[in-house]
Amino acid sequence: MRLRDLIILTIGVVLLASFSGCAKRSSDIIRIGEYGPMTGTTADFGATTHRGIEMAINQVNASGGVLGRKIEVPLQDDRGDPAEARTAVTRLMELDGVVAVLGEVASSRSLAAGAVCQQKKIPMITPSSTNPQVTQGRDYVFRVCFTDDFQGAVCAKFAANSLNVRKAAILRDIKNDYSVGLADSFIGTFNKHGGAIVADESYSEGDKDFSSQLTAIKAKKPELIFVPGYYTEVALIARKARQLGITVPLLGGDGWDSSILVQNAGNALEGCYFSNHFSPMSKEVRVQQFVKEYRKIYNTNPNALAALGYDAAKIMVAAIQKTGSTEGVKIRDALAATRNFPGVTGNITIDANRNAVKPAVVIQIQGDQFVPVEYVTP
Ligand code: PHE
Repeated sequence: MRLRDLIILTIGVVLLASFSGCAKRSSDIIRIGEYGPMTGTTADFGATTHRGIEMAINQVNASGGVLGRKIEVPLQDDRGDPAEARTAVTRLMELDGVVAVLGEVASSRSLAAGAVCQQKKIPMITPSSTNPQVTQGRDYVFRVCFTDDFQGAVCAKFAANSLNVRKAAILRDIKNDYSVGLADSFIGTFNKHGGAIVADESYSEGDKDFSSQLTAIKAKKPELIFVPGYYTEVALIARKARQLGITVPLLGGDGWDSSILVQNAGNALEGCYFSNHFSPMSKEVRVQQFVKEYRKIYNTNPNALAALGYDAAKIMVAAIQKTGSTEGVKIRDALAATRNFPGVTGNITIDANRNAVKPAVVIQIQGDQFVPVEYVTP
């Protein structure tokens, strides 16, 4: 071979190699970002949501991926902090080049990061943020769960009609959009059903001492305390309430959904109730199949967060598949057109406000079991 031919050949090989390397980066993989509380007082929310997402994406990749490409899910820990959530989605977009985002669990963080997704036109699905404002006025932000207008009404009707309560007290996390909104929603419906709020006390995430609030509540002799918070504080509140001799039931929302709640509360929440999105005890075939597969991988039952994370990931993939593109605006339009998607948390239709309208289940805590006692359709 002549020298000139050798040079041409070498250049050709180098060009080809760099071209295919490039092709691998830009067209063999689609990246969907995940952000959540992998550390902090709600770390169990992050961990269980991640399992659901991971399971869904592994299934999709095992059956060939989407648009002939594999999916990768880079994960950013926001430590459960709204400002960090903003940084987390920015990193996912700028460093990882994600085409869409899954997260957050908690409404305050979805509100913060949703503003960035909206501005950058990167579609976001929150699996589980229930505060009505999360999707309001943001046409790139979707959710696959019900909102707290509905959840608060479910809790209030359950208290008034099923538990026959007329006097309730509230203990809310004042810095948490979810907690504040759910408390207000509960009060609205409870009043309409003839109930009275005899005390409305508050705390902030991270607090450890709840004795003054609970002492004030006890003095008003409520028949029930509504505690729309997250599992870390709720467990401490429950223990303190029992220590102070408060025996009435505590009632909460989806923020109670963690196995750590009962581990930390001991028997202080025995017989108490909370509303939720999902129960692994459902008899539905689709749910049982999901529970079986999940248990095989993680050796424990899925909670609502795992199930919602799973559904959110599957719906995102279905939208990309349907629109045949990874362009933000196209994915957004496909998400908005989601109708009757067969999720493990129910059939999911995205309405004009980018919310899902779905039933709730009221759970009773019996030992370390979360037993469904009532299904409520909207
Ligand atoms: N709905 C809660 C919020 O908006 C988050 C949550 C959902 C927590 C489901 C636990 C289970 O902040």
